[in-house]
Amino acid sequence: MGVVISFINLKGGVGKTTCCANVAGELARENRKVLVIDADPQANISTLLMGIKKYHEKFNPNNQSDDYYKDSIYQIFLDAMEENEENKKFNFDTAIIKSVVSKTVQGTETHPLTHLDLLPATHHLMQLEQKIVNYVRSRFAILERFINLIKNEYDFILIDCPPNIYTTTHNSLYASDYYIIPTIPDYLSISGFPLLINSLNRTIDIKKEEKNERVILAGVLVNLMDMRINVHKDGLESIKRVLRYFRQNGLVDENAVVFESVITNKVDVKNASGNHLPVCVDKPRSNSTMEYMKLCKEILERISK
Ligand SMILES: Nc1ncnc2c1ncn2[C@@H]1O[C@H](COP(=O)(O)OP(=O)(O)OP(=O)(O)O)[C@@H](O)[C@H]1O
Ligand SMILES: [Mg+2]
Repeated sequence: MGVVISFINLKGGVGKTTCCANVAGELARENRKVLVIDADPQANISTLLMGIKKYHEKFNPNNQSDDYYKDSIYQIFLDAMEENEENKKFNFDTAIIKSVVSKTVQGTETHPLTHLDLLPATHHLMQLEQKIVNYVRSRFAILERFINLIKNEYDFILIDCPPNIYTTTHNSLYASDYYIIPTIPDYLSISGFPLLINSLNRTIDIKKEEKNERVILAGVLVNLMDMRINVHKDGLESIKRVLRYFRQNGLVDENAVVFESVITNKVDVKNASGNHLPVCVDKPRSNSTMEYMKLCKEILERISK
């Protein structure tokens, strides 16, 4: 049964997408079967993994047809709101892109990560908030119902969330066994933690009430770390302090940690994303690859997998 992990932070630009893509890449390189779900209308992880060309081939921006997005996550939500079975359009076989990375490397199989699949997003997902206002029935459990149908096929299902706590983030969290909070170790990022944890806990409590299942904070992931900057060293200590406070007050799981493995700010990570590859494929011997390897080991230990 696949373990579902969401990468969540209300704060934008902290590395949710980059971390999700690189953790997915590393797990797939270790021969685990991984599905990445793009829950963000920015479609960043879709284009990161598919490459712009492939993305536009699949989702042609000039395509005006009304089911342009039927092979994306948005259709799962539309189908859930559709009463008539015959009008439901989501199709697993066409929507999930198998071995997404091996297909992006200039048509060759030079860097195959055969175990990495993707359910993409398009910008249409932005319309979801208006569409879903009148839909009241278990509106947080829509993605979970879809994930349950495919959970057996994967070891890990990783969800890249948008920088907000609206419908797709609630759905991702509700569908998850664990969540990871990527953050930059600076004041502006840390100051949003109480709001973030309080908002997420509301959904976690709903899941507990409805299903008696927990969603556990696997850890806070410090990203874009620069050891030369004192602000970052202090920031790392502040995150540990804040997390201790959350633990003591029962706001997060009593074992929730700041991952020992921090991801440093490296041009190799940026270049890999620009090459539409996880860094473990683009620069297998780089420090960044080592950092993600170490992180994955720690994640696996945390969730005993
Ligand atoms: N470890 C890293 N080293 C260097 N650059 C990084 C690293 N992690 C992320 N970045 C860069 O930081 C920027 C923000 O990263 P990313 O898009 O992953 O953040 P995000 O939290 O997903 O953003 P959003 O909130 O918009 O979804 C990107 O330009 C990315 O390439
Ligand atoms: Mg992102």
